[in-house]
Amino acid sequence: MITDLVLNSNNKYNENYLMDTTLEGLAQQLQSKSLLQLFKDQPNRARYFTINVGGVHFDYSKNHITPKVIQALCDKARSQNIGGAVDALFSGKYVNTTENRAALHTSLREPKKDSEHSSLVQDTLNKMDDFVDKIHRQEWLGFGGRPIDTIVNVGIGGSDLGPRVVTQALFDFRKKNINLEFIANIDGADLADCLLELNPQTTLFIVASKSFTTAETISNAINARQWMLDAGCGRELLQQHFVAISSNIKAAKEFGIASDNIFPMWDWVGGRYSLWSAIGLPIALEIGMERFRELLAGAHSMDLHFRDTPLEQNMPIIAALISHWYSIYWGSSSHAVLPYAQRLKALPAYLQQLDMESLGKCVTHSGASVTTPTGSILWGTEGSNGQHSFHQLLHQGTHLIPCDFIAVKQTMSEYDAQHWYLLSCCLSQSQALLQGKTLTQATDELVKQGLDTQEIDRLAPHKVIPGNRPNNVIIMEELTPFNLGELLAFYEHKVYTTSVLLDINAFDQWGVQLGKELNDGILQALETGEINDNWDDSTIQLINYLYAAKNEQQY
Ligand code: F6P
Repeated sequence: MITDLVLNSNNKYNENYLMDTTLEGLAQQLQSKSLLQLFKDQPNRARYFTINVGGVHFDYSKNHITPKVIQALCDKARSQNIGGAVDALFSGKYVNTTENRAALHTSLREPKKDSEHSSLVQDTLNKMDDFVDKIHRQEWLGFGGRPIDTIVNVGIGGSDLGPRVVTQALFDFRKKNINLEFIANIDGADLADCLLELNPQTTLFIVASKSFTTAETISNAINARQWMLDAGCGRELLQQHFVAISSNIKAAKEFGIASDNIFPMWDWVGGRYSLWSAIGLPIALEIGMERFRELLAGAHSMDLHFRDTPLEQNMPIIAALISHWYSIYWGSSSHAVLPYAQRLKALPAYLQQLDMESLGKCVTHSGASVTTPTGSILWGTEGSNGQHSFHQLLHQGTHLIPCDFIAVKQTMSEYDAQHWYLLSCCLSQSQALLQGKTLTQATDELVKQGLDTQEIDRLAPHKVIPGNRPNNVIIMEELTPFNLGELLAFYEHKVYTTSVLLDINAFDQWGVQLGKELNDGILQALETGEINDNWDDSTIQLINYLYAAKNEQQY
């Protein structure tokens, strides 16, 4: 890649028209330059604006950027001391400044080394290895003496979404004798639906909660335990059906989980960065430890790239800078993630937590109010489904919504022809956003259809598609554990880089706490009907309404 860039830096691209090289100035000057024109102006643009890392290929050429823009953005990153921030992350400095903690998820995927963290990580991996082996060898028996064949992960947020996205993505690598389920929601329907088909004698629950205080998880775990007892499992045999993953070992034990069945995690691993820890146990059970280690190795390879590569060729840093460019200098407030791979359909939900819980902040590290927008609204769904719902807004709506298209080059699906169709959908959507359709083109098409002039004039404006809409295309060679590890670590580092650019803490989530705090009072009011007069009228009315309905149901 370095050779490519050196070669390309000698290309004939002339940027002299960009006189004002401040980011504000560049944005203003590029407003009047179309993406298509940028492609015409710069030979080898696609090659110039592509970065490959391992099995992940990142083409960011369809953006309102030029080499000068990238330079100015990199300068901004330098002025925010991105180098120091990356060092701080990897060396275990307290980058989570409000909770006085490190965020050492990168050490979870580092090969063994001589450090305290590393031995904790390796011991836990070994413990996972033993457990997974026993389950796979059918040596872990349920209360009826039959081997466990069904695992239910009970967790929410980072204790759910990471394992969920990875196990779905790597479905083709699954061990076929394990049935894996996830429950997260406090809505009892989630638990009830899951339990419907399960055999308690061969089911094991993983209670996954870093804090072991999360209401959803604890409620579901309590009801799962009761289900097990009701099915005839003696209390003394519950340990054959429950394991926990937590940094709150005391609470897990108090719940009744046997010490040997508790897999530790640590305060230096944030919930949404935790799939690489024992929180990944469902992944290891689904695909085996060897494959789980490949996932870690892929993430580690992206870590090294992020840590050691100059900014201009650094995939997560460039991705973050481009998002920042649109958010701060082009007024975009939303970003779509469009995986053209059914196996990656859970990716937008996973990235929503990663990105929005990390970057949805309104004060800087010092506590001062931010003066620019922070995290964007991240959303999306799997292609090609999205094309038949919201893509219309991407093509002809009025919002600027940069998109990430994600596709996989080689499919493991037996329906090969459909795979090529899927890939063509992905590329054609990306191209359509870029080129759009002009009034002349729309008019010509209508002329060809033989419509009269009046009808052509009436219809043509509706058929104009503005185009000029930026997007990235990320192609994975294959959806393997290694490449997936790279992709997820890419997004983690993109998020961290954005937090550095914005000077905000990517590792706390105080906003989530308020709802949890208020919940206790509301729950009590719903149970007793006792209202706090200081509450707002809307909340009081809603409680009264629901409380009355509850009483009616009882009679
Ligand atoms: O929603 C807030 C949050 O704290 C997330 O950050 C976290 O991933 C999730 O709840 C679950 O937390 P825990 O693993 O402690 O149950």
